[in-house]
Amino acid sequence: MSDRTVTSTAGGLPPWHAAHGFDADPLGVLDEGHHRHGPVFRMPVDGVETVLVGTWEGLGELFAAERGHLEVLNTPLVHDLFGHALFNLTGDGHGEARRRLRTTLSGRALPGYVSALLEVTAPVAAWWAQHGARDLHREMRELTGAMSARVLLGVAPEEADAAVFASDFERFVGATGAPPGPARFATARYWAGRAARRRLHDLFARRAAEAIRVASADSALAGLVAAFDDAPAAAGPLADHLLALLIAARETTASLATWCLVGLAGYRELARLAAAEARAVSAEPELLVRRGALPVLKSVLAETQRLHSPNLLSMRETVCPVTLGGHRIEAGTRVAYSPSAGHFDPKVFPQPHAFRPGRFLAGQAHRSRLWAFGGGAHACLGRPLAELMALTVMTSVLNRGLPQLPDGPPTRIRHRPAKAPIDPLSFALDQEPAS
Ligand code: HEM
Repeated sequence: MSDRTVTSTAGGLPPWHAAHGFDADPLGVLDEGHHRHGPVFRMPVDGVETVLVGTWEGLGELFAAERGHLEVLNTPLVHDLFGHALFNLTGDGHGEARRRLRTTLSGRALPGYVSALLEVTAPVAAWWAQHGARDLHREMRELTGAMSARVLLGVAPEEADAAVFASDFERFVGATGAPPGPARFATARYWAGRAARRRLHDLFARRAAEAIRVASADSALAGLVAAFDDAPAAAGPLADHLLALLIAARETTASLATWCLVGLAGYRELARLAAAEARAVSAEPELLVRRGALPVLKSVLAETQRLHSPNLLSMRETVCPVTLGGHRIEAGTRVAYSPSAGHFDPKVFPQPHAFRPGRFLAGQAHRSRLWAFGGGAHACLGRPLAELMALTVMTSVLNRGLPQLPDGPPTRIRHRPAKAPIDPLSFALDQEPAS
């Protein structure tokens, strides 16, 4: 028994797990915790006692119990900066906002965004083919920002608004790093972020008016404006939702796309197979959104979600007592789940720490066992778009060459805000002749 590890008693507190080494290897610590204690245990996270829920069974139980018992735990800073954004809403207002946002984020809306996304990714891939990238993840963050601005706001990279958006968005993101409580009011970054938020809201209003005028379907904006036209106040204003979508899309999608390329760089034969699919996309871009198409690229996407889930933890707070894993959890308790807590179960994913996309091709593993996009009441609304963005990046890159990491794969990794290399990751494209 390490430190304060206690044996679980039926109905009593979940067992305690010492969080030694959590900062260096959080997934290892969570994995060990679930191995020793099962789906539910207690552990300090950022110095606060937290009930951790994981494993396939544990997450299923958590999501089933979520409505009415648990709410997303957001700091006063997040409430303040994001206002009535989706992840700050509860109850009917939350459901109403999700329903309205989904109209432009579901799979059905995606075909309209394909060529706009390719127009953003193709020139960047061409640049990488010529010059390489000195820091792949940093450049991927910029690319993800540009893709999101294009699809969510209709802002193309060559427009003056693109630079205005990028700089104000960075200022706003900077404010999310201010102290979470009242100490934020004493920081310059908080006030700079608030001012940037006002300017971004003005930009959204201007772009919304333009989107309605041209009624273009290659961005979500006109559809979103229509969807929120008659929305009740409880569903929150569209401007708050737009900022939340842009934030939710940024680090996560940059992380996923980065690790997809890292995976491809390590397996040349796999990259060749994927490149053949990318060539087919050049001739027929709709393949990017066709069900059943591009099996190799989609297996890379699935295996990357499994092995490199972007999000480490999602936080909740119980608003009334709830039973999880046979333990009564009192109201006001901090609860967290890790989207990837079931991704390393050797019974479901043999050799769980190896990058083996083929497991999804051969039907040995199923995407339905992946929780990278969360689940339950707050499951990711942007999953179809995020997957389309990652596929688009991969195809544009593979059409220019086979990914390479001249200085080797990342060795030091951070897990928050999303999983990413700590050090600059150099990246190049090997332009071997097409077979
Ligand atoms: C690889 C990329 C992405 C990953 C891994 C990801 C993952 C997640 C996860 C795990 C959650 C649940 C959080 C929780 O349980 O508290 C979530 C929620 C959310 N995501 Fe994503 N996400 C991605 C991309 C996107 C994109 C592109 C968008 C929008 C365009 C988006 C919009 C949202 C929103 C609005 C929520 C909050 C839903 C709610 O509170 O009801 N995400 N995402």
